[in-house]
Amino acid sequence: MMRKLMMAAAMLATTALTAHADDVKEVQMLHWWTSGGEAAALNVLKQDLATEGYTWKDVPVAGGGGDAAMTALKAMVAAGNPPTASQMLGYTVLDYAEAGKMGDLTETAVAEGWDKAVPAALQKFAVYDGKWVAAPVNVHSVNWLWINKAVMDKIGGTEPKTFDDFIALLDKAKAAGVTPLALGGQNWQEATMFDSVVLSTGGPEFYKKAFNDLDEDALKSDTMKKSFDNLAKLKTYVDPNFSGRDWNLATAMVINGDALVQVMGDWAKGEFVAAKKVPGTDFLCYRFPGTDGSVIYNSDMFGMFDVPDDRKAAQIALAKATLSKSFQSAFNVVKGSVPARTDVPDTDFDACGKKGIADLKAANEGGTLFGSFAQGYGAPPAVANAYKDVVSKFVHGQITSSDQAVDELVKAIDDAK
Ligand code: GAL
Repeated sequence: MMRKLMMAAAMLATTALTAHADDVKEVQMLHWWTSGGEAAALNVLKQDLATEGYTWKDVPVAGGGGDAAMTALKAMVAAGNPPTASQMLGYTVLDYAEAGKMGDLTETAVAEGWDKAVPAALQKFAVYDGKWVAAPVNVHSVNWLWINKAVMDKIGGTEPKTFDDFIALLDKAKAAGVTPLALGGQNWQEATMFDSVVLSTGGPEFYKKAFNDLDEDALKSDTMKKSFDNLAKLKTYVDPNFSGRDWNLATAMVINGDALVQVMGDWAKGEFVAAKKVPGTDFLCYRFPGTDGSVIYNSDMFGMFDVPDDRKAAQIALAKATLSKSFQSAFNVVKGSVPARTDVPDTDFDACGKKGIADLKAANEGGTLFGSFAQGYGAPPAVANAYKDVVSKFVHGQITSSDQAVDELVKAIDDAK
Protein backbone atom coordinates (compact mmCIF):
# COMPACT_ATOMS: atom_id res chain seq x y z
CA MET A 1 0.00 0.00 0.00
CA MET A 2 2.73 2.41 1.10
CA ARG A 3 4.74 1.58 -2.03
CA LYS A 4 1.73 2.24 -4.27
CA LEU A 5 1.08 5.53 -2.55
CA MET A 6 4.67 6.58 -2.99
CA MET A 7 4.63 5.63 -6.66
CA ALA A 8 1.43 7.60 -7.19
CA ALA A 9 2.98 10.60 -5.45
CA ALA A 10 6.12 10.33 -7.58
CA MET A 11 4.01 10.17 -10.77
CA LEU A 12 2.00 13.19 -9.71
CA ALA A 13 5.19 15.12 -8.99
CA THR A 14 6.56 14.21 -12.42
CA THR A 15 3.36 15.31 -14.14
CA ALA A 16 3.35 18.64 -12.35
CA LEU A 17 7.01 19.27 -13.05
CA THR A 18 6.84 18.34 -16.72
CA ALA A 19 6.31 21.03 -19.33
CA HIS A 20 3.47 20.73 -21.85
CA ALA A 21 3.36 21.91 -25.45
CA ASP A 22 0.68 24.53 -24.79
CA ASP A 23 2.53 26.04 -21.79
CA VAL A 24 3.21 29.76 -21.96
CA LYS A 25 6.97 30.03 -22.45
CA GLU A 26 7.23 33.41 -20.79
CA VAL A 27 8.21 34.64 -17.36
CA GLN A 28 6.62 37.89 -16.32
CA MET A 29 8.41 39.51 -13.41
CA LEU A 30 7.66 42.67 -11.48
CA HIS A 31 10.68 44.26 -9.79
CA TRP A 32 12.42 47.53 -8.92
CA TRP A 33 15.86 46.66 -10.23
CA THR A 34 16.45 49.59 -12.56
CA SER A 35 19.92 50.87 -11.56
CA GLY A 36 23.03 49.85 -13.53
CA GLY A 37 24.17 47.21 -11.06
CA GLU A 38 20.67 45.84 -10.53
CA ALA A 39 19.94 45.59 -14.25
CA ALA A 40 23.25 43.77 -14.79
CA ALA A 41 22.35 41.25 -12.10
CA LEU A 42 18.88 40.71 -13.54
CA ASN A 43 20.45 40.01 -16.93
CA VAL A 44 22.12 36.94 -15.46
CA LEU A 45 18.66 35.55 -14.71
CA LYS A 46 17.17 36.54 -18.07
CA GLN A 47 20.03 34.78 -19.85
CA ASP A 48 19.69 31.63 -17.75
CA LEU A 49 16.00 31.41 -18.57
CA ALA A 50 16.61 32.16 -22.24
CA THR A 51 18.87 29.09 -22.49
CA GLU A 52 15.90 27.06 -21.27
CA GLY A 53 13.64 28.60 -23.92
CA TYR A 54 11.75 31.12 -21.77
CA THR A 55 11.24 34.71 -22.82
CA TRP A 56 11.27 37.50 -20.30
CA LYS A 57 8.43 39.95 -19.86
CA ASP A 58 9.86 42.74 -17.80
CA VAL A 59 7.64 44.74 -15.43
CA PRO A 60 10.07 47.25 -13.92
CA VAL A 61 8.80 49.84 -11.43
CA ALA A 62 11.64 52.17 -10.47
CA GLY A 63 12.12 53.26 -6.88
CA GLY A 64 14.58 51.74 -4.43
CA GLY A 65 13.05 49.99 -1.45
CA GLY A 66 10.16 48.94 -3.66
CA ASP A 67 7.28 51.10 -2.39
CA ALA A 68 6.18 52.12 -5.91
CA ALA A 69 6.61 48.54 -7.13
CA MET A 70 4.43 47.24 -4.34
CA THR A 71 1.68 49.73 -5.23
CA ALA A 72 1.81 48.52 -8.84
CA LEU A 73 1.72 44.90 -7.69
CA LYS A 74 -1.32 45.51 -5.55
CA ALA A 75 -3.19 46.88 -8.57
CA MET A 76 -2.23 43.91 -10.77
CA VAL A 77 -3.28 41.39 -8.16
CA ALA A 78 -6.52 43.24 -7.44
CA ALA A 79 -7.29 43.16 -11.18
CA GLY A 80 -6.84 39.38 -11.15
CA ASN A 81 -3.75 39.67 -13.29
CA PRO A 82 -0.78 38.75 -11.11
CA PRO A 83 2.70 38.43 -12.66
CA THR A 84 4.44 35.04 -12.72
CA ALA A 85 6.56 36.39 -9.89
CA SER A 86 7.37 39.61 -8.11
CA GLN A 87 10.38 40.83 -6.21
CA MET A 88 9.19 41.11 -2.61
CA LEU A 89 10.57 41.67 0.84
CA GLY A 90 9.86 39.59 3.95
CA TYR A 91 6.53 40.39 5.52
CA THR A 92 5.01 41.40 2.17
CA VAL A 93 5.30 37.78 1.04
CA LEU A 94 3.45 36.65 4.14
CA ASP A 95 0.71 39.25 3.63
CA TYR A 96 -0.03 37.99 0.09
CA ALA A 97 0.19 34.38 1.25
CA GLU A 98 -2.29 35.06 4.02
CA ALA A 99 -4.63 36.62 1.46
CA GLY A 100 -4.46 33.35 -0.52
CA LYS A 101 -2.78 34.89 -3.56
CA MET A 102 0.40 32.82 -3.70
CA GLY A 103 1.11 29.61 -5.60
CA ASP A 104 2.72 26.52 -4.14
CA LEU A 105 6.31 25.60 -4.95
CA THR A 106 6.59 22.83 -2.40
CA GLU A 107 7.04 19.97 -4.90
CA THR A 108 9.92 21.78 -6.54
CA ALA A 109 11.37 22.74 -3.17
CA VAL A 110 11.28 19.16 -1.94
CA ALA A 111 12.72 17.78 -5.18
CA GLU A 112 15.54 20.33 -5.04
CA GLY A 113 16.21 20.08 -1.27
CA TRP A 114 15.70 23.80 -0.54
CA ASP A 115 14.87 23.20 3.11
CA LYS A 116 18.41 21.94 3.77
CA ALA A 117 20.17 24.73 1.91
CA VAL A 118 18.17 27.87 2.69
CA PRO A 119 18.78 29.44 6.13
CA ALA A 120 15.86 29.35 8.59
CA ALA A 121 15.83 33.17 8.76
CA LEU A 122 14.73 33.16 5.08
CA GLN A 123 12.44 30.13 5.26
CA LYS A 124 10.44 32.04 7.85
CA PHE A 125 9.33 34.34 5.02
CA ALA A 126 9.44 32.01 1.98
CA VAL A 127 7.31 29.29 3.56
CA TYR A 128 3.75 29.98 4.66
CA ASP A 129 1.57 27.42 6.34
CA GLY A 130 4.04 24.67 5.42
CA LYS A 131 4.10 25.64 1.72
CA TRP A 132 6.93 27.29 -0.22
CA VAL A 133 5.45 30.45 -1.75
CA ALA A 134 8.62 32.33 -2.70
CA ALA A 135 12.14 31.68 -3.97
CA PRO A 136 14.81 33.71 -2.14
CA VAL A 137 17.38 35.00 -4.60
CA ASN A 138 19.91 36.56 -2.24
CA VAL A 139 20.75 37.90 1.19
CA HIS A 140 21.53 41.60 1.38
CA SER A 141 22.86 43.29 4.46
CA VAL A 142 22.34 46.94 5.33
CA ASN A 143 24.94 47.71 8.02
CA TRP A 144 27.78 48.66 5.70
CA LEU A 145 29.89 51.71 4.87
CA TRP A 146 31.00 52.21 1.24
CA ILE A 147 34.09 54.42 1.05
CA ASN A 148 36.06 55.99 -1.79
CA LYS A 149 39.63 54.77 -1.24
CA ALA A 150 41.39 57.72 -2.92
CA VAL A 151 39.47 60.20 -0.78
CA MET A 152 40.19 58.10 2.30
CA ASP A 153 43.92 58.13 1.50
CA LYS A 154 43.85 61.84 0.81
CA ILE A 155 42.38 62.66 4.23
CA GLY A 156 44.53 60.07 6.01
CA GLY A 157 41.50 58.15 7.29
CA THR A 158 41.42 54.69 8.84
CA GLU A 159 38.57 52.27 9.48
CA PRO A 160 36.20 53.79 12.06
CA LYS A 161 35.45 51.24 14.77
CA THR A 162 33.04 53.29 16.89
CA PHE A 163 30.40 55.90 16.22
CA ASP A 164 32.77 58.58 17.60
CA ASP A 165 35.52 57.39 15.23
CA PHE A 166 33.00 57.73 12.41
CA ILE A 167 32.23 61.32 13.36
CA ALA A 168 35.97 62.10 13.53
CA LEU A 169 36.41 60.62 10.04
CA LEU A 170 33.51 62.64 8.63
CA ASP A 171 35.07 65.76 10.17
CA LYS A 172 38.30 65.06 8.31
CA ALA A 173 36.47 64.87 5.01
CA LYS A 174 34.63 68.09 5.78
CA ALA A 175 37.90 69.84 6.60
CA ALA A 176 39.30 68.66 3.24
CA GLY A 177 36.33 70.17 1.40
CA VAL A 178 34.77 66.85 0.34
CA THR A 179 31.11 66.03 1.00
CA PRO A 180 31.50 63.60 3.90
CA LEU A 181 28.26 61.61 3.65
CA ALA A 182 26.41 60.75 0.44
CA LEU A 183 22.74 60.35 1.31
CA GLY A 184 19.64 60.15 -0.78
CA GLY A 185 16.87 61.95 1.09
CA GLN A 186 14.09 59.43 0.52
CA ASN A 187 12.37 57.82 3.48
CA TRP A 188 13.51 54.26 2.82
CA GLN A 189 17.17 55.32 2.47
CA GLU A 190 17.07 57.36 5.66
CA ALA A 191 15.44 54.52 7.59
CA THR A 192 17.87 51.98 6.14
CA MET A 193 20.71 54.10 7.52
CA PHE A 194 18.89 54.49 10.83
CA ASP A 195 18.70 50.68 11.21
CA SER A 196 22.51 50.74 11.47
CA VAL A 197 22.56 53.75 13.79
CA VAL A 198 20.22 51.97 16.22
CA LEU A 199 22.28 48.77 16.16
CA SER A 200 25.45 50.80 16.76
CA THR A 201 23.92 52.93 19.51
CA GLY A 202 22.05 50.23 21.43
CA GLY A 203 23.79 46.97 20.51
CA PRO A 204 22.33 43.72 19.16
CA GLU A 205 19.89 42.95 22.00
CA PHE A 206 18.47 46.44 21.81
CA TYR A 207 18.06 46.35 18.04
CA LYS A 208 16.15 43.09 18.27
CA LYS A 209 13.90 44.26 21.08
CA ALA A 210 13.05 47.57 19.44
CA PHE A 211 12.98 46.73 15.74
CA ASN A 212 12.04 43.05 15.57
CA ASP A 213 9.99 42.55 18.74
CA LEU A 214 8.56 46.13 18.69
CA ASP A 215 8.98 46.23 22.46
CA GLU A 216 7.46 49.50 23.61
CA ASP A 217 9.92 50.08 26.46
CA ALA A 218 12.81 49.77 24.01
CA LEU A 219 11.09 52.00 21.46
CA LYS A 220 10.59 54.83 23.93
CA SER A 221 13.89 54.38 25.80
CA ASP A 222 16.72 56.84 26.25
CA THR A 223 18.76 54.59 23.96
CA MET A 224 16.28 55.26 21.15
CA LYS A 225 16.53 58.99 21.89
CA LYS A 226 20.31 58.72 21.73
CA SER A 227 19.94 56.94 18.38
CA PHE A 228 17.97 59.89 17.01
CA ASP A 229 20.64 62.23 18.43
CA ASN A 230 23.24 60.25 16.50
CA LEU A 231 21.14 60.40 13.33
CA ALA A 232 20.91 64.18 13.76
CA LYS A 233 24.71 64.30 13.94
CA LEU A 234 25.07 62.35 10.71
CA LYS A 235 22.64 64.67 8.97
CA THR A 236 25.09 67.56 9.48
CA TYR A 237 27.55 65.86 7.06
CA VAL A 238 25.15 65.62 4.14
CA ASP A 239 25.24 68.05 1.18
CA PRO A 240 22.34 70.51 0.75
CA ASN A 241 20.97 68.79 -2.39
CA PHE A 242 20.23 65.45 -0.78
CA SER A 243 16.40 65.62 -0.76
CA GLY A 244 14.81 63.10 -3.10
CA ARG A 245 18.12 61.87 -4.50
CA ASP A 246 18.07 58.26 -5.75
CA TRP A 247 20.27 55.84 -3.83
CA ASN A 248 22.40 54.94 -6.85
CA LEU A 249 23.17 58.62 -7.47
CA ALA A 250 24.41 58.82 -3.89
CA THR A 251 26.55 55.75 -4.60
CA ALA A 252 27.85 57.48 -7.75
CA MET A 253 29.02 60.41 -5.61
CA VAL A 254 31.26 57.99 -3.70
CA ILE A 255 32.37 56.16 -6.85
CA ASN A 256 33.37 59.49 -8.46
CA GLY A 257 35.13 60.83 -5.35
CA ASP A 258 32.56 63.60 -4.83
CA ALA A 259 31.78 62.16 -1.40
CA LEU A 260 33.69 60.03 1.09
CA VAL A 261 31.12 57.49 2.21
CA GLN A 262 27.62 56.13 1.83
CA VAL A 263 25.79 54.10 4.47
CA MET A 264 23.80 51.64 2.39
CA GLY A 265 22.90 48.01 1.85
CA ASP A 266 25.31 45.99 -0.24
CA TRP A 267 23.30 46.59 -3.40
CA ALA A 268 25.57 49.68 -3.46
CA LYS A 269 28.43 47.31 -4.24
CA GLY A 270 26.60 46.30 -7.40
CA GLU A 271 27.10 49.87 -8.62
CA PHE A 272 30.84 49.76 -7.87
CA VAL A 273 31.09 46.43 -9.69
CA ALA A 274 29.16 47.81 -12.68
CA ALA A 275 31.62 50.75 -12.75
CA LYS A 276 34.50 48.21 -12.80
CA LYS A 277 35.75 49.28 -9.38
CA VAL A 278 37.72 46.89 -7.18
CA PRO A 279 37.48 46.58 -3.39
CA GLY A 280 40.70 47.45 -1.58
CA THR A 281 41.93 49.39 -4.63
CA ASP A 282 39.12 51.79 -5.53
CA PHE A 283 36.73 51.42 -2.63
CA LEU A 284 36.48 50.02 0.88
CA CYS A 285 33.66 48.14 2.59
CA TYR A 286 33.49 48.27 6.35
CA ARG A 287 30.73 47.32 8.73
CA PHE A 288 28.90 50.35 10.11
CA PRO A 289 31.01 51.39 13.14
CA GLY A 290 29.99 49.57 16.29
CA THR A 291 28.03 46.84 14.47
CA ASP A 292 30.79 44.38 13.58
CA GLY A 293 29.64 40.86 14.51
CA SER A 294 25.99 41.57 13.73
CA VAL A 295 24.22 41.46 10.40
CA ILE A 296 21.01 43.34 9.62
CA TYR A 297 19.65 41.47 6.63
CA ASN A 298 17.03 41.55 3.97
CA SER A 299 16.50 39.07 1.19
CA ASP A 300 14.94 39.64 -2.20
CA MET A 301 12.32 36.98 -2.67
CA PHE A 302 10.61 36.10 -5.91
CA GLY A 303 7.07 35.74 -4.64
CA MET A 304 5.29 33.18 -6.83
CA PHE A 305 1.65 33.88 -7.53
CA ASP A 306 -1.18 31.46 -8.04
CA VAL A 307 -1.09 31.67 -11.83
CA PRO A 308 -3.19 29.73 -14.39
CA ASP A 309 -2.01 26.17 -15.14
CA ASP A 310 -0.44 27.04 -18.48
CA ARG A 311 1.92 29.50 -16.76
CA LYS A 312 3.04 27.14 -14.00
CA ALA A 313 5.86 25.45 -15.93
CA ALA A 314 7.49 28.85 -16.51
CA GLN A 315 7.12 29.66 -12.83
CA ILE A 316 8.77 26.41 -11.82
CA ALA A 317 11.60 27.00 -14.30
CA LEU A 318 12.13 30.43 -12.74
CA ALA A 319 12.11 29.01 -9.22
CA LYS A 320 14.59 26.26 -10.09
CA ALA A 321 16.92 28.64 -11.88
CA THR A 322 16.78 31.06 -8.94
CA LEU A 323 17.88 28.52 -6.36
CA SER A 324 20.46 26.75 -8.50
CA LYS A 325 23.93 26.92 -6.97
CA SER A 326 25.66 28.24 -10.07
CA PHE A 327 23.09 31.00 -10.52
CA GLN A 328 23.27 31.95 -6.83
CA SER A 329 26.98 32.56 -7.28
CA ALA A 330 26.86 34.31 -10.66
CA PHE A 331 23.93 36.57 -9.77
CA ASN A 332 25.12 37.61 -6.32
CA VAL A 333 28.65 38.37 -7.49
CA VAL A 334 27.10 41.04 -9.73
CA LYS A 335 24.32 42.16 -7.35
CA GLY A 336 26.52 42.81 -4.28
CA SER A 337 24.52 40.42 -2.12
CA VAL A 338 25.44 36.92 -0.94
CA PRO A 339 23.79 33.58 -1.73
CA ALA A 340 20.49 32.57 -0.18
CA ARG A 341 21.91 29.04 0.19
CA THR A 342 24.59 28.06 2.67
CA ASP A 343 26.31 25.61 0.31
CA VAL A 344 27.55 27.97 -2.41
CA PRO A 345 31.34 28.40 -2.52
CA ASP A 346 32.67 31.96 -2.09
CA THR A 347 35.37 31.40 -4.75
CA ASP A 348 34.04 33.86 -7.32
CA PHE A 349 33.20 36.63 -4.84
CA ASP A 350 35.39 39.69 -4.26
CA ALA A 351 36.77 40.61 -0.82
CA CYS A 352 33.56 42.38 0.29
CA GLY A 353 31.44 39.45 -0.89
CA LYS A 354 33.66 36.96 0.94
CA LYS A 355 33.35 39.05 4.11
CA GLY A 356 29.59 39.24 3.60
CA ILE A 357 29.31 35.45 3.32
CA ALA A 358 31.50 34.86 6.40
CA ASP A 359 29.66 37.53 8.43
CA LEU A 360 26.28 36.04 7.55
CA LYS A 361 27.39 32.57 8.62
CA ALA A 362 28.82 33.86 11.92
CA ALA A 363 25.77 36.00 12.69
CA ASN A 364 23.41 33.15 11.83
CA GLU A 365 25.27 30.79 14.17
CA GLY A 366 25.81 33.38 16.89
CA GLY A 367 22.27 34.72 17.13
CA THR A 368 23.17 38.18 15.83
CA LEU A 369 21.33 38.03 12.51
CA PHE A 370 18.46 40.52 12.58
CA GLY A 371 15.79 41.49 10.08
CA SER A 372 16.03 45.02 8.69
CA PHE A 373 13.09 47.11 9.89
CA ALA A 374 13.47 49.52 6.97
CA GLN A 375 13.65 46.68 4.46
CA GLY A 376 10.53 44.78 5.44
CA TYR A 377 12.12 42.14 7.65
CA GLY A 378 11.30 43.64 11.06
CA ALA A 379 7.55 44.01 10.88
CA PRO A 380 4.64 43.99 8.38
CA PRO A 381 4.59 46.68 5.66
CA ALA A 382 2.16 49.05 7.42
CA VAL A 383 4.40 49.20 10.50
CA ALA A 384 7.59 49.51 8.43
CA ASN A 385 6.03 52.40 6.49
CA ALA A 386 5.13 54.15 9.74
CA TYR A 387 8.76 53.80 10.86
CA LYS A 388 10.16 55.14 7.58
CA ASP A 389 7.81 58.09 7.76
CA VAL A 390 8.88 59.15 11.26
CA VAL A 391 12.60 58.80 10.52
CA SER A 392 12.19 60.84 7.35
CA LYS A 393 10.22 63.60 9.08
CA PHE A 394 13.04 63.81 11.61
CA VAL A 395 15.73 64.04 8.95
CA HIS A 396 13.79 66.70 7.02
CA GLY A 397 13.05 68.82 10.09
CA GLN A 398 9.30 68.21 10.41
CA ILE A 399 10.03 66.53 13.72
CA THR A 400 12.33 68.79 15.63
CA SER A 401 13.72 66.85 18.59
CA SER A 402 14.72 63.32 19.54
CA ASP A 403 12.09 63.37 22.30
CA GLN A 404 9.38 64.17 19.80
CA ALA A 405 10.75 61.56 17.36
CA VAL A 406 10.49 58.83 19.98
CA ASP A 407 6.93 59.85 20.90
CA GLU A 408 5.88 59.90 17.26
CA LEU A 409 7.57 56.58 16.57
CA VAL A 410 5.78 54.81 19.40
CA LYS A 411 2.46 56.31 18.35
CA ALA A 412 2.89 55.60 14.62
CA ILE A 413 3.88 51.98 15.23
CA ASP A 414 1.00 51.51 17.60
CA ASP A 415 -1.50 52.92 15.11
CA ALA A 416 -0.13 50.78 12.29
CA LYS A 417 -0.12 47.49 14.20
C1 GAL B 1 16.22 46.82 -1.76
C2 GAL B 1 16.44 45.50 -2.45
C3 GAL B 1 17.73 45.48 -3.16
C4 GAL B 1 17.96 46.73 -3.97
C5 GAL B 1 17.55 48.00 -3.21
C6 GAL B 1 17.61 49.28 -4.03
O1 GAL B 1 14.96 46.85 -1.17
O2 GAL B 1 16.42 44.47 -1.50
O3 GAL B 1 17.82 44.34 -3.98
O4 GAL B 1 17.30 46.59 -5.13
O5 GAL B 1 16.28 47.88 -2.68
O6 GAL B 1 16.78 49.24 -5.14
